[in-house]
Amino acid sequence: MRAQVNDFYMAYDDSGKGIPLLLIHGYPLNRKLWEPQVAGLADITRVIAPDLRGHGDTQPIPGPFSPPEPYTMDLLASDCAALLNVIEIQEPVVVCGLSMGGYIALAFFRNYPHRVAALILTATRATADTPEAQENREKAVKKVTEEGVGAVIDEMLPKLLSPSTYSNQPILVQLVNDIMQNTSVNGMIGDLLGMKARPDSTPMLSEINKPTLLLHGMDDQIISLQDMESMREAIPNARFQVIPSAGHLLNLEQPDLFNQAVRNFIQTL
Ligand code: MLT
Repeated sequence: MRAQVNDFYMAYDDSGKGIPLLLIHGYPLNRKLWEPQVAGLADITRVIAPDLRGHGDTQPIPGPFSPPEPYTMDLLASDCAALLNVIEIQEPVVVCGLSMGGYIALAFFRNYPHRVAALILTATRATADTPEAQENREKAVKKVTEEGVGAVIDEMLPKLLSPSTYSNQPILVQLVNDIMQNTSVNGMIGDLLGMKARPDSTPMLSEINKPTLLLHGMDDQIISLQDMESMREAIPNARFQVIPSAGHLLNLEQPDLFNQAVRNFIQTL
């Protein structure tokens, strides 16, 4: 499905019945990340999974070439809120974001707290980029500009999954590669500049007054256990579950465990 949202056509999946569950993908991915959740959770929720601007099947409105611009976390959160408006979901939703999707979920809570029923923060962190991380974003922008998206994907692919996934699930490794290839140059640069500029959400964590579930892959090479622990300590009554034999893309690597954790959480709402 595709809907006109802000200044582009946003592709999204919308299936199932129940409390709406908004699934926000990470960088440089798209809604295919959430296929096991769309298939496995639609019996208890209405699963909404968009492709963010610049990603997957989302398309710009035809017109003159637009140069890359930062996709701030606020901008990406506003796109998600606009999609909910277009598909006429006014009731509060469960917002689930993975990694950059988690940064966006926090921006969504900051800007639209009344639209949030609960949060699921997956493989993410509340802090802003360190100066070193900001420098790496600039290097990645240069790389994608000069060499294309494939060069950045080649660097990222070995970091996204658990070592056990690389040896046991070669088809999944290929799928992740294929998902990332469907990101535009502008999309990748937009994400990188937006993440580089994102604010520190740590001071807001104590104000999160919605049920919150934190999910982390035990072998995550990008987000540390400490990043997640810090959020658990700061968010009132947050639940925290670590999923074994999973890395940064735990929902794809261990879909049954991930879906069960989400299902258990949603049933308490
Ligand atoms: C993501 O998976 O969304 C990114 O790796 C997050 C980041 O680079 O900070």
